[in-house]
Amino acid sequence: MEDSQGAGQDKGAGQELSRRRALTAAGLVAVAVPLATRRQAPALVRRAEIAGAPGPEQVHVQFGADAASQVAVSWAAPAAVSRPRLRLGRASSGHGLEVRAEERTYTEALTGETVFTYHARLDRLHPDTHYVYEVLNDGAAPVSGTFRTGPRGRSRGFRFTSFGDQAIPAPVGLGLGPWTANAGFIVPAVERLDPLFHLFNGDLCYANLSDVPVETWTSFFENNTRSAANRPWMPCAGNHENEVGNGPQGYLSYQTRFELPDNSSAEFGGNWYAFTVGPIRVISLNNDDICLQDGGFSGFRRDNVPNYASNGDNPYINGYSSGEQRQFLERELDRARRADEIDWIIVCMHQVSMSSAHFNGADLGIRQNWLPLFDQYGVDLVVAGHEHHFERTFPVRGTLPGSTLLTPAPQGTNRHEMDTSTGTVHMIIGGGGHSTPTPVTDFDKPHDGVLITSVGPGSPQTQRPSITTTEPAPWSAYRDLKTPYGFASFDVAPAEPGGTTSITVTHYGAELGSPLYTRRDQFVMRKSLGRQGPHDRLAGSAVTR
Ligand SMILES: [Fe+2]
Ligand SMILES: [Fe+2]
Repeated sequence: MEDSQGAGQDKGAGQELSRRRALTAAGLVAVAVPLATRRQAPALVRRAEIAGAPGPEQVHVQFGADAASQVAVSWAAPAAVSRPRLRLGRASSGHGLEVRAEERTYTEALTGETVFTYHARLDRLHPDTHYVYEVLNDGAAPVSGTFRTGPRGRSRGFRFTSFGDQAIPAPVGLGLGPWTANAGFIVPAVERLDPLFHLFNGDLCYANLSDVPVETWTSFFENNTRSAANRPWMPCAGNHENEVGNGPQGYLSYQTRFELPDNSSAEFGGNWYAFTVGPIRVISLNNDDICLQDGGFSGFRRDNVPNYASNGDNPYINGYSSGEQRQFLERELDRARRADEIDWIIVCMHQVSMSSAHFNGADLGIRQNWLPLFDQYGVDLVVAGHEHHFERTFPVRGTLPGSTLLTPAPQGTNRHEMDTSTGTVHMIIGGGGHSTPTPVTDFDKPHDGVLITSVGPGSPQTQRPSITTTEPAPWSAYRDLKTPYGFASFDVAPAEPGGTTSITVTHYGAELGSPLYTRRDQFVMRKSLGRQGPHDRLAGSAVTR
């Protein structure tokens, strides 16, 4: 529609009005976009298509800061394309509005390849509304997808899902990176549940371990687009998103490929962000900033990224934001805590603050930096991965009396029903598909916690070894030793002030090589909402710190 209207300059008021009428007919009147096609000349609009041009691939959707009104659609192309754009519409009326996409590129340090990505941002969408779209460029067939915007406030319930540590479904290049069939099977398993969105809790495709990192990313997105083109897959950056040589902290690929809510950071856009969906504020963090573990190291990149040493490439990035991420987190938590319309604060991050497996282990840096803030502002739920299994805690707040390891203190012993106004529930959901799931023999016996307390000597050339210890684990409520692959779904039941809201959590697990993801575990998180003003998220707290 917008295509055929082509205008050589900005439209006058009358033209804008007629455009609005046309959009109204298409049911799109409330849709406006920051990157409109208005400035394109008619000659350009009508020019012959470029036969055989590469088309969109790796299409995926993200929410903006307000899931009820903002969505971004992103994709890639194997070469620069002409007039990348998105057509938006409703299922009933077809594609009515056209939005120009922004091109962003990066050059992979290992191979010298330039990657072309495209991002169309949509604003002022209707809440709780199903949209259809197609993305295209000159000379290529469109690729279509759908999404639903988030509900406004407490208007209705919805479902979301989470897992991390997926990798890819088949080997690429020399096969150095992890892959399993389960990395493929998990996508339709998630899609079958029709979640509103998915929280990808880090370690996406492990491109930092691959000899062909661009191919690894392509495989990852081509695998996930079956779901991610139809619902936002909201990521956080894990230690394997640190591709040393790609930007100062290795995140340039991650930052370029995703279009994530603005975090007001000039340097670290996308590394952390927040969005609101219904009565939930989701905060996505990058824990490599505060973790002690040396998790981004890759011997292959050290040996093969040109000029690794002379460029000063360094995969150990502890402290890289100099407190900027912490300031963001504290600001976001404070805002969410004060917001009348927010009933749940959920953090999506990668490395964990508790684990009972001798795999990586939990990281003391998270306990030192994040947990006091989670306590202070009453975070309800943390979803994480990094440990390649499923485990969950009781609500925790404060630390065990006298604990030098800052061992979190459980607030309750009921593993089926939990009141998150008493503490934060932590979940490890790291069974997305990596070829090395946590071996059963790694689970501590009888059932202690495992904690990284420091790292040994190292350098950009040599990975710092983790130094770990064990601790009592009264916080551990449940762990799955049978099905290392899996994901969790979260059914959100909002309530009005004065009522009780809940999230029912279900863990689906599968064995290696099996596409059957069966229900393995379920529990309910509940909290009572105050009748007036900001509800008291910290009611009943018993901080023992
Ligand atoms: Fe992982
Ligand atoms: Fe990890």
